Amino acid sequence: PLQKAVDDAPEGSLTALRRQARDCRACELWKPATQTVFGEGPAHARVVVIGEQPGDQEDLAGKPFVGPAGKLFDKALGEAGIERDQLYVTNTVKHFRFEPRGKVRLHKRASAEQQAACRPWLAAEIDRIQPAALVCLGAMAAQAVFGASFRLMAQRGAWIDLPDGRRAMATVHPSYLLRVPDPDEREQAYAQFVRDLTLMREAL
Ligand code: URA
Repeated sequence: PLQKAVDDAPEGSLTALRRQARDCRACELWKPATQTVFGEGPAHARVVVIGEQPGDQEDLAGKPFVGPAGKLFDKALGEAGIERDQLYVTNTVKHFRFEPRGKVRLHKRASAEQQAACRPWLAAEIDRIQPAALVCLGAMAAQAVFGASFRLMAQRGAWIDLPDGRRAMATVHPSYLLRVPDPDEREQAYAQFVRDLTLMREAL
């Protein structure tokens, strides 16, 4: 799916892309959102990490993975011996989607159409950065990279060669870890997440 989106990808440097993405109107999510949350990190990072979509805090800060899921991601990266500033971190969808509920804004998953509308940005980021490897956090990112038939829990934690010569790996999303109800299971799931992330070191 990403391969195809490259054809529709905007031109220009990564900096130019970021600027253009501020005014994106390819879907309707821009309207209620505060701002576009574009990717962040070295322009020639070896690894691009792809999340799902910004949450409340990312929407306000304009930066990916700064809220609770981002904090857990940072902690797990540390335990895997990886520095976040080596990575280019971005999302499949670049606007926060939410439902207002009184004073809070409840996270709502972006639709398939919204994901597809945003795909050229992700394809362009990867095209400009030319990383050796992609790491997908969660099923939305994994399906953007590998296609809709990808099954996260069966295929996570292993490198898969992509047709473009890169390799890619998927693992769970950190916000999933925050929601595992049983503490022992949560701890095990977190340990497996750290093991998956450790594989990234081979690509750095
Ligand atoms: N979850 C994501 O997938 N991305 C973010 O940037 C924050 C939370």
